[in-house]
Amino acid sequence: MNAFSFYNPVKLIFGKGQLEKVKTELPQYGKRVLVVYGGGSIKKNGLYDEVMETLKEADLDVFELSGVEPNPRISTARRGIEICKKEKIDSILAVGGGSVIDCAKLISNGAKYDGDAWDLVTRKATPEAGLPFGTVLTLAATGSEMNAGSVITNEETQEKYGWGSPYTFPKFSILDPTYTLTVPADQTVYGIVDMMSHIFEQYFHNATNTPVQDRMCEGVLKAIIETAPKLVNDLESYEHRETILFAGTMGLNNFLQMGYNGDWGTHNVEHAVSAVYDIPHAGGLAILFPQWMRHNLKVNPERFAQMAVRVFDVDPEGKTAEETGNEGIDRLREFWSSIGAPEQLKDYDIDDSKVDLITEKAMARGEFGNFAKLKSEDVKEILVASL
Ligand code: NZQ
Ligand code: ZN
Repeated sequence: MNAFSFYNPVKLIFGKGQLEKVKTELPQYGKRVLVVYGGGSIKKNGLYDEVMETLKEADLDVFELSGVEPNPRISTARRGIEICKKEKIDSILAVGGGSVIDCAKLISNGAKYDGDAWDLVTRKATPEAGLPFGTVLTLAATGSEMNAGSVITNEETQEKYGWGSPYTFPKFSILDPTYTLTVPADQTVYGIVDMMSHIFEQYFHNATNTPVQDRMCEGVLKAIIETAPKLVNDLESYEHRETILFAGTMGLNNFLQMGYNGDWGTHNVEHAVSAVYDIPHAGGLAILFPQWMRHNLKVNPERFAQMAVRVFDVDPEGKTAEETGNEGIDRLREFWSSIGAPEQLKDYDIDDSKVDLITEKAMARGEFGNFAKLKSEDVKEILVASL
């Protein structure tokens, strides 16, 4: 293991009927609240009314920012920051999926920064404070509800970057599986692919002696693999939604990543793809991750073989580590396809015409990947294999 310190201050409030807790969690930060939400799913499923009623009961003054896009845009965050500054907002409540939460994170830190918020995303400036914010999660996927990460797209320059600060941890996150019951089939599958990808990003690392972490990653992956097909066939099952919601949070709240640096190369490549083509984040991951694995199998075949045997029950008898590992990658591909995830970039009508541009965007901050360093030619090979 590498030396590490662990810090996660997010108060996680999980279970049926927990929205009530907003009334005790939010007023302590002041009276003026900006509610941030997306394109209208919360209006359709009734959560919007419930939230507004709860805030009214808490005697809070409510302001609203709606229309946060999937792959949230800097222009939307700028609108939110303007409201915060003009209306002297005290706190923010993000109600939605990862996109809404990520946007709220930038609004929070941007409201306390004098320059343009894109400076915070590009790390040209370092955030020095943030408005306190809480979240009501409606989609199991990113883990943003319990981490400090945020991913923002600049639609003008076609850039999409992850960033974060000590002030981008939510003060609290309310996770009631009930609010995820209306997530449609495609977004449910994307969420499952995203949380599994987060665990793979962490699982592929170069530290030694991490048996506890390995078993934790494998355990969460196995629970997802057992539950996902049942959920996809029964989208209104509270029980399966509950399992997947908890798995998504555990997948990226840093508990699995103590003592090592995960790879995170595939996420970097995917952010470049969705910056150029605005495709769903996990649709891109479902296509790219198996190709990243094949590309890097030789870096540490034993690691891939361990995943194959422990997570996908591959029989290693009479096979080399590389053969076993390769079979594990086949199983992953089959599993994702079996629940309806995309397989190739052409599923999104993406051809080879912008491979060079995507590669260039992925390389903007230099070589990347902690398990396997990716150079420009590696990114290009992974993209071409994904076409
Ligand atoms: O906008 P609305 O109308 O709310 O609809 C959303 C959106 O269209 C819909 N939805 C959400 N909850 C629903 C629902 N529809 C019906 N019922 C519900 N209960 O689902 C669509 C997708 O929502 P979005 O928030 O975009 O999905 P997700 O949570 O997958 O977030 C994706 C974004 O997170 C970033 C991705 O890059 C992408 O921009 N990521 C953030 C991370 C982080 N902060 O830690 C890590 C991830 O790796 C990821 O990169
Ligand atoms: Zn992700």
